[in-house]
Amino acid sequence: MSASAPRDRVVRAIRADEWAAVKEMRLTALRDPLAHLAFLETYEGAVARPESYWRERAAGAAEGAAGARQVVAEVPGGPWAGTLTVLMEEAGTTDWAGCPVERRQGHVVGVYVRPEWRGTGLVEELFDAGVAWAWGRGAERVRLFVHEDNGRARSCYRKLGFVPSGVTLPMQGAPGENELELVLVRE
Ligand SMILES: CC(C)(COP(=O)(O)OP(=O)(O)OC[C@H]1O[C@@H](n2cnc3c(N)ncnc32)[C@H](O)[C@@H]1OP(=O)(O)O)[C@@H](O)C(=O)NCCC(=O)NCCS
Repeated sequence: MSASAPRDRVVRAIRADEWAAVKEMRLTALRDPLAHLAFLETYEGAVARPESYWRERAAGAAEGAAGARQVVAEVPGGPWAGTLTVLMEEAGTTDWAGCPVERRQGHVVGVYVRPEWRGTGLVEELFDAGVAWAWGRGAERVRLFVHEDNGRARSCYRKLGFVPSGVTLPMQGAPGENELELVLVRE
């Protein structure tokens, strides 16, 4: 998908003990001006969560965990520059929206790049790592949902090879607004 990563940043899975950085990155993402389009959670909801929540969240998506992987971009002298998480979904289960999962697939959530790193190719490096993990776990495809009005994210995903599946879901808590399912099929 992308050229090799520049030497000044490292894209990797989180470690279970990095829960405080996971929390900081999530709270930053939830303060983005487009957070209401990008994420189903609010800043107020997230900031009120106990430490145990962040510890469990980090452990469940850390290197070595089977069901999910959170990928981050480390840059010299600063906080993580961006992140995404891939959830593994198994055929025969029901997803969070109550829809049947028909095949083993990765589901990308929590995509966020700090403003100063946007347009630098960093998001492609995050996807390269997250998608490779899903293929390595036997996923037949990788999917994500994007708000119909999130033009930048939609352009980005199109560039990365995601295409609309035709499935749309009403946006939780926002009557009349929709999220579009985009999929990436293994070549
Ligand atoms: C979505 C996000 C991860 C994409 O990363 P990014 O580094 O900004 O993405 P890129 O710059 O590589 O790609 C975005 C493309 O959209 C274009 N674009 C910018 N603003 C746009 C707009 N309003 N409408 C349509 N396209 C737009 C850019 O020009 C770019 O295309 P180009 O590379 O051909 O010039 C990042 O913008 C982000 O964190 N946004 C806030 C959180 C969010 O929306 N997350 C996604 C939830 S589904």
